[in-house]
Amino acid sequence: MRRVRVPLGERSYEILVGEDLLKGIGARCKKLKLGRRCVIVTDTNVGRLFGKAVTKSLSAAGFEVGSFEFQAGEKSKNLRTMEQCYNAFAEHRLERGSFVVALGGGVVGDLAGFAAASYLRGIDFVQIPTTLLAQVDSSVGGKTGVNLRAGKNLVGAFFQPKLVLCDQETLRTLPKREYRSGLAEVIKYGIIYDSKLFRRIESKISEILKLDPQTLSALVARCCAIKALVVEEDEQESGLRAILNFGHTIGHAIEAITSYGTYLHGEAISIGQIAAARLSKDQLGLSEAELQRIQEVFEAVGLPIKISLNQSQKRRLLEAMKLDKKVSDGEVKFVLADKIGHVVWGEFVGNDRIISSIDA
Ligand SMILES: NC(=O)c1ccc[n+]([C@@H]2O[C@H](COP(=O)([O-])OP(=O)(O)OC[C@H]3O[C@@H](n4cnc5c(N)ncnc54)[C@H](O)[C@@H]3O)[C@@H](O)[C@H]2O)c1
Ligand SMILES: [Zn+2]
Repeated sequence: MRRVRVPLGERSYEILVGEDLLKGIGARCKKLKLGRRCVIVTDTNVGRLFGKAVTKSLSAAGFEVGSFEFQAGEKSKNLRTMEQCYNAFAEHRLERGSFVVALGGGVVGDLAGFAAASYLRGIDFVQIPTTLLAQVDSSVGGKTGVNLRAGKNLVGAFFQPKLVLCDQETLRTLPKREYRSGLAEVIKYGIIYDSKLFRRIESKISEILKLDPQTLSALVARCCAIKALVVEEDEQESGLRAILNFGHTIGHAIEAITSYGTYLHGEAISIGQIAAARLSKDQLGLSEAELQRIQEVFEAVGLPIKISLNQSQKRRLLEAMKLDKKVSDGEVKFVLADKIGHVVWGEFVGNDRIISSIDA
């Protein structure tokens, strides 16, 4: 098992990464001296797969366990589900000392985390992320929240968990497409921060695609460590944290103009990262050889690397980018790489160049 410490003063916590960790969740919560009552928040897919094992472990450790399950999918990440979740907390008589266990992907983690952050003005919570995206991204950093009709993640809070437990075994039941989508974030950490990690990914493609637990544990732990480092420096997202958005400016716009229906997030940011790499070559001198390596690694894990857009879609893409939260004063700023393992943020890119980077 690997341990990654997220050092945030009094709010510090550990991320545990390894195999067969689910059955130990009860003992670990006990060690953390969490309150006697808890509610497991999960979705219909994950509850069916792992709900029993988690309940059993928590009960065996002496906790009084309740559960709240909602329909799987991004559509459930809203205030209506939140209210049902609060009601489940109340029915189970959660108190100030009680805790919430988020068992599932990013949707569960974001919703359960925000419910924990706001119920009784904040109770403890523990995350068991069961998608690759949740393990390397959404469960680290303390962002929680839900969507409004007006947009994604518009209501939320920064709220850190007491423990994150990433069990590699849980990834085996994940649909392949979801798994590959998570790999887009893994590759991102290599590009933005760690050329050694990038090389390791390149050399271990077949192990990664086979979900080799040793390889995966090492990768997931490294990604968490990088995100933890970045978050430690910039918990409230004022500067450095922007580097995590490599490939996301274009990626988010692709998701938006396709109504979040055609591409999974990881697929959209795969195309976005390749476009950003092309812009990096133009503007920061990223070498042609490294641009090729970036393209090849996304291709090797089976992620899409291009999208063809008609004129009207191109126009809508540019408009969508201007609406992105990360835009200041209507100027679109990019995170670009001068080499694999190092990025700079705040780069302005003209509309024509943005379009040609996608068209290439
Ligand atoms: N808080 C953050 O910092 C942050 C960062 C990135 C993304 N997010 C959020 O994360 C969400 C996306 O997360 P996601 O990609 O994990 O989606 P998700 O939670 O919807 O999970 C994807 C699908 O996989 C299923 N699933 C989950 N684990 C499984 C398993 N082990 N076996 C079989 N099926 C399983 C789910 O039921 C769902 O159908 C978005 O809402 C996004 O906004 C948050
Ligand atoms: Zn992302």
